Amino acid sequence: MASDTLLPMNDLAGKHIVLGLSGGIACYKAAELCRALVKEGASVQVVMTEAAEQFITPVTLQALSNRTVYGSHNASGFDARESNGMPHINLSREADAILIAPASADFMAKLLHGRADDLLSLLCLARPLDKVPLLIAPAMNREMWAHPATQRNMTQLQADGTTIFGVGSGDQACGETGDGRMLEPLELLDDVIAFFQPKRLAGQHVLVTAGPTFEAIDPVRGITNLSSGKMGFAIARAAREAGAQVTLVAGPVHLSTPRGVARINVSSAQDMFAATVAHAQHATIFIATAAVADWRPASASSHKIKKDGSGATPQLAFVENPDILAAVAKSDRAQSGKLFCVGFAAESQNLLENSQAKRLKKNVPLLVGNIGPATFGQDDNALLLVTAHGVTELARDSKLRLARKLIASFPIPTGT
Ligand code: CTP
Repeated sequence: MASDTLLPMNDLAGKHIVLGLSGGIACYKAAELCRALVKEGASVQVVMTEAAEQFITPVTLQALSNRTVYGSHNASGFDARESNGMPHINLSREADAILIAPASADFMAKLLHGRADDLLSLLCLARPLDKVPLLIAPAMNREMWAHPATQRNMTQLQADGTTIFGVGSGDQACGETGDGRMLEPLELLDDVIAFFQPKRLAGQHVLVTAGPTFEAIDPVRGITNLSSGKMGFAIARAAREAGAQVTLVAGPVHLSTPRGVARINVSSAQDMFAATVAHAQHATIFIATAAVADWRPASASSHKIKKDGSGATPQLAFVENPDILAAVAKSDRAQSGKLFCVGFAAESQNLLENSQAKRLKKNVPLLVGNIGPATFGQDDNALLLVTAHGVTELARDSKLRLARKLIASFPIPTGT
């Protein structure tokens, strides 16, 4: 599913995208994709093959893109209405990217061979390779997808510099079930947005904790807190967009997993501790955003605690939970500079002083302060970045944009 973590806003502003449709039932999804790209701020020029027009009309795409569609009437690639008569040159020169969605097996084969017998394949061939990336979203029956010819074509297209967004799995229009469906429009939108982000964290493994923990009192009750997990999920998404391998250890939250992120669901602080410490062995950057419960009931009852009718209340005793960030920051990997640790501080007052004190207490190079009650559950936040060298304020903004700024702010570890 596409990420619902802080839906991006205007992330494609200023981008001009040529959206090419080749023939396939997934053309109906291209209408939604076109709308999503436009909503995100992109200008979209649709180009359809003759086969695509069998599945959806150019009128639909014209209404959604607010531009005249290039279709089968331009099939030859010549268009007397353009002053130079060469739409394949004009279209491919002004694009920031060409996105083929759906890309049929036949169209991929055509691209591979550099054939150019219709406008869409012609403009793909005519695009300046170093300036206009070609992104494709394949869509086909599972047997066609698994066929060695398609897989071979895909490998070669990638070697030729094409970005392939992969396929979804599940029920297919033909009645069969398997791999080959076109990704959903919002998944493709996330992939296009990610494509344009700088790949600052390529080769890094980022580990993120997010959300609250849940400390059981008995099988039906427990102690938790108001953390929504949104900041941590936004950081996981931003790190993935920046090219990192990302592992997200998430407490109980109802957020969908950002695309390409490996998620591990945990409940208690002890579970979060175990999962985090295990994955920290391979991480190069650790960002602790979780609101870990400081204490847990000393012993959770295995059966529901019942009222006995006397008005007596249960006497709960607590023990302190392990400090995940402090433990990871103390590890050999962190101490030797192979693992860069970032802590968060959820404060209610004296943000600067508390954040500076917490950075020293947790022994981390970067501590991010925020006012908990002002941000829990919200889609925006304001951050204070505290290091040994000073303090930087990141003004109130969407959590996703703040996450991108945060990961652009710290030095990248060089060790392994
Ligand atoms: N943290 C952690 N494990 C804990 C408690 C906190 O990993 N058991 C991490 C949080 O994810 C955050 C940082 O430590 O990155 C600070 O968390 P915070 O709740 O603000 O502070 P505490 O350490 O709990 O201190 P205090 O409650 O006294 O403010």
